[in-house]
Amino acid sequence: MLLKHAVRTLCVGAGGQVAAAAAGACSLRRLCTDTVDLKKALSELIPAQRERLKALRKAHGKRVVGEVTVEQIVGGMRGLPVMGAGGGGAMLWETSLLDPEKGIRFRGLSIPELQAKLPTAVEGGQPLPEGLLWLLLTGQVPTKPQVAAVTEELRHRAHVPPHVLRLLNAMTHDTHPMTQLSVGVMALQTGSHFAAAYRRGARKDLHWESVYEDSMDLVAKLPRLAAMIYRHSYKGGEHIQPSMSLDWAGNLAHMMGYEDPGCLEMMRMYQTIHSDHEGGNVSAHTTHLVGSALSDPYLSYAAGMNGLAGPLHGLANQEVLRWLKDLTAKLGPRPDKEAVRKYVQDTLASGKVVPGYGHAVLRKTDPRYICQREFAQKYMPDYPLFKLVSDLYEVVPEVLGKTGKIKNPWPNVDAHSGVLLQYYGISEENFYTVLFGVSRALGVLSQGIWSRALGLPIERPKSITMAALEAACAPAEARPVAAAEGAAAEGGTEAIPMPASAAV
Ligand SMILES: CC(C)(COP(=O)(O)OP(=O)(O)OC[C@H]1O[C@@H](n2cnc3c(N)ncnc32)[C@H](O)[C@@H]1OP(=O)(O)O)[C@@H](O)C(=O)NCCC(=O)NCCS
Repeated sequence: MLLKHAVRTLCVGAGGQVAAAAAGACSLRRLCTDTVDLKKALSELIPAQRERLKALRKAHGKRVVGEVTVEQIVGGMRGLPVMGAGGGGAMLWETSLLDPEKGIRFRGLSIPELQAKLPTAVEGGQPLPEGLLWLLLTGQVPTKPQVAAVTEELRHRAHVPPHVLRLLNAMTHDTHPMTQLSVGVMALQTGSHFAAAYRRGARKDLHWESVYEDSMDLVAKLPRLAAMIYRHSYKGGEHIQPSMSLDWAGNLAHMMGYEDPGCLEMMRMYQTIHSDHEGGNVSAHTTHLVGSALSDPYLSYAAGMNGLAGPLHGLANQEVLRWLKDLTAKLGPRPDKEAVRKYVQDTLASGKVVPGYGHAVLRKTDPRYICQREFAQKYMPDYPLFKLVSDLYEVVPEVLGKTGKIKNPWPNVDAHSGVLLQYYGISEENFYTVLFGVSRALGVLSQGIWSRALGLPIERPKSITMAALEAACAPAEARPVAAAEGAAAEGGTEAIPMPASAAV
């Protein structure tokens, strides 16, 4: 009965819904009720989505949707194609989709659309990330009461047990904040509902419920944990209690020690735009992969955070600030553009990357950069560091473009975030990736709930050796020999059977 009702309501559609992502698809539609209970809202949506995936597999499970090239296998699985689906794709990820030209869409909505549609704390201000969480989980723009209910739910789940603080205190103050985040999340794992439910033998179709409990607990506790790490590392361990009247992101700024209303708005915007960037980036993919083994949300999110801590991924926001500080130390606070150009060229000549520029998927300026630039234009137009970052925007793409090898010379999210934080006095750049990580929880944990709701299997792509690839690409007459030699060279005992065509 519930299934029939949910299928009908999900496929009929009504006002306030997010447009269907795929033409003709029965994607997430209007809820049956105007409930403010997020878990109830989810439970109404899940049956129809399960049916949808089942139908897709049944009707098209054997359909060939693309070819894979050798370059894609050895080149970090970039752009595995799905014919007719725009930029391609190699895994299921429901909460957001990245268009190489237009940038990120959260359940179909762009960042300006989020800013226009999601409820705010301040009239005409930045979206509340709690509203984004509702959107990511249900596909629907929440009402104000629904967002208020999420804020309240998170407030009640926010307590961080004392053993976590004891563990942080046992680490030296100079332990990198991302290491502290990973350790802190692992310490919270003792409270996992999913791990306990699995031990008790919970049924597979109910896994999503305890994963929901863990995910909401973790999202709720992360601002407190992040603030504890911040105060432990930089403020002599003098911690600040949460405010019972502030929203989730505002409270994060407050517990770190920042009360400026502009800083609170910045934090709401920051936490909204860093949340999700489809499924293939290192932190999202890692969380997804580890979660597919039925590791609980604490284990899988901590794994994702260890990936976010890499300098080519989330740590780039820290690297950008270091690079800017080095630039201003050498050239002064407002160097002319020629001096800036030379500095960029020197960075490249020394064999380093220019942090904050380039992207594996995007081919235009990151809309998350533009959003932060617009925030700076409104709140800090005369701030020298903002002006320097603006100058870099005019210089760096041209220099990177001239190398001829960089596919996207435009700035990404990390090129701008540090400037906003510096302006409000959050000057410790080693902490920046933690703020990114708190936000990323909203996306990867939302998808984690859906992954369990849809019963997605353990992820296990087949790997291949160089010898087997060479064998597959060899002329037909040489192929069996090459395959045999390749297998022998790898210490294998049998040739890997390869398809007759060169496409593997
Ligand atoms: C994000 C990033 C890792 C994407 O890498 P990618 O998908 O391999 O990018 P490309 O295909 O354009 O790379 C082609 C070449 O250009 C180089 N390149 C890309 N971006 C570069 C940058 N910002 N500065 C210098 N070189 C860069 C790559 O290292 C690669 O060099 P190689 O052929 O010698 O190995 C890369 O652009 C980068 O390192 N950027 C700086 C770090 C950063 O800002 N990360 C945050 C991303 S949100």
